[in-house]
Amino acid sequence: MEHTHDIICGDAASVLDRLEGGSVDLVLTDAPYLCNYRDRTGRSLKGDNSPDMVLAVFPHLYRVLKDHSYCLLFCGWNAIPQFSAAWQEAGFQTAGHIVWRKSYTSSARHLQYQHESAWLLRKGNPTPPDKPLADMQEWTYSGNRLHPTEKAVEVIAPLVRAFSKPGDVVLDPFLGSGTTAVAAALNGRQAIGIELEARYCELAKRRLAGVERFVQKKRRPAPEKIAA
Ligand SMILES: C[S@@+](CC[C@H](N)C(=O)[O-])C[C@H]1O[C@@H](n2cnc3c(N)ncnc32)[C@H](O)[C@@H]1O
Repeated sequence: MEHTHDIICGDAASVLDRLEGGSVDLVLTDAPYLCNYRDRTGRSLKGDNSPDMVLAVFPHLYRVLKDHSYCLLFCGWNAIPQFSAAWQEAGFQTAGHIVWRKSYTSSARHLQYQHESAWLLRKGNPTPPDKPLADMQEWTYSGNRLHPTEKAVEVIAPLVRAFSKPGDVVLDPFLGSGTTAVAAALNGRQAIGIELEARYCELAKRRLAGVERFVQKKRRPAPEKIAA
């Protein structure tokens, strides 16, 4: 089956406003953590100091999701009160919390920060996965070469497989370098990604085009089969 993917450059809330209600099977996103992020080389994130812009997506996410489906949100511990108020206000219920243990310390202050986490939210009562994931996972470091807070495809792909089916539409409104779209495409899902920064939109489109070439090559029959 041919899949169509869509990467849209712009502000998530404004783009989502134009998306049809009930058209998305799974939201899987890694929003700016609202923590004034700066990496060791000084790279920062657009939107990380704009809570209103980031939190404005939740009513839209609730509307565009089909009834009885999931939204997975990577989110740091620092802005949980704002995020959880926004998702509850939009109508989401909390279904779980996944923690990835890192083998290194991302930063140290009051504690050595050695984990990453995501919240599993639900709209209505989705059918639970046949084989539920453990809520403790081992982290794979992406290397952050493409984006300052890039997630590894190895971390995102199991979430895509657990919470959506082949052919489903997977939406990431804070796409960054395109990892969610890549994981979705590799697993036979359709991807919609929204990203504010033009350079990351272009990067995501290039990564997705690479995945599509790879998937099509795998689908092509071997030469001996064509000859036969
Ligand atoms: C935490 S990063 C996502 C990184 C991604 N998971 C990856 O693997 O590359 C969040 C992204 O959201 C984008 N962003 C921030 N505010 C936005 C907004 N209002 N609309 C769309 N994208 C936004 C930032 O430019 C950033 O690339």
